[in-house]
Amino acid sequence: MKFLILAISLFIVNSSRLTADIYVESLCPYCMMFIKDSLYTAITTPDIEQMVHIRLIPYGNTKRKIVAGKWVFTCQHGETECYGDLIELCAQDSIVKALGAAAAEIPKAGVVHCMEDFIQKPYTNNSFVQAAYHCQQYYPYDANEVINCASNSNGELLHLVAADETDNLIPKHLGVPWAVANKKYTEESGDEIINNLLRWACQNYDGEKIAACYTQQE
Ligand SMILES: *[C@@H]1O[C@H](CO)[C@@H](O)[C@H](O)[C@H]1NC(C)=O
Repeated sequence: MKFLILAISLFIVNSSRLTADIYVESLCPYCMMFIKDSLYTAITTPDIEQMVHIRLIPYGNTKRKIVAGKWVFTCQHGETECYGDLIELCAQDSIVKALGAAAAEIPKAGVVHCMEDFIQKPYTNNSFVQAAYHCQQYYPYDANEVINCASNSNGELLHLVAADETDNLIPKHLGVPWAVANKKYTEESGDEIINNLLRWACQNYDGEKIAACYTQQE
């Protein structure tokens, strides 16, 4: 009986958790600003994952078409952006394999922040290779595996999953970064997440709020 009550209350706690799905691409300036500001503040806030499940999906405005039976991707900011998205997708995937999905939530967003914070102009594929090595010291993945993944079928599969999720958004995303709150887009919540994810979570989470909600300054 006790167990049943515990199970039910866990279910209730989990069901009220917010979700923030944020569609980005590796070389978009506004994505970088969001990642270094709003996202970084949120993911470095202790216990944030109790209120909100944050996901970053690197794909954004990429286009794809089938050429000779194979998907060909065209990224908004060129081939290097496609490579950056692949490195980020592969690193996220490795971290999930290392930690399990639940424990990987914040590190998956964190590794994208680490890479976006590391790369410098002029951006080349090698910027992301170096970022993969740099961020390996902070996150549980093997940089060589991630680099291999970015040019093999595993990376291609991750690219397609990100493509399908992004292209199937209703309504369609009109730009990047694009944030969807609780699986249902509204302009208001989308903008609030991009501007201040922590504040949005504090204002919208109806369970017990984390300590940072009572101390955060503007
Ligand atoms: C950079 O990565 C892209 C995406 O995988 C690839 O198409 C391109 O050939 C790479 N460029 C170089 C110089 O390796």
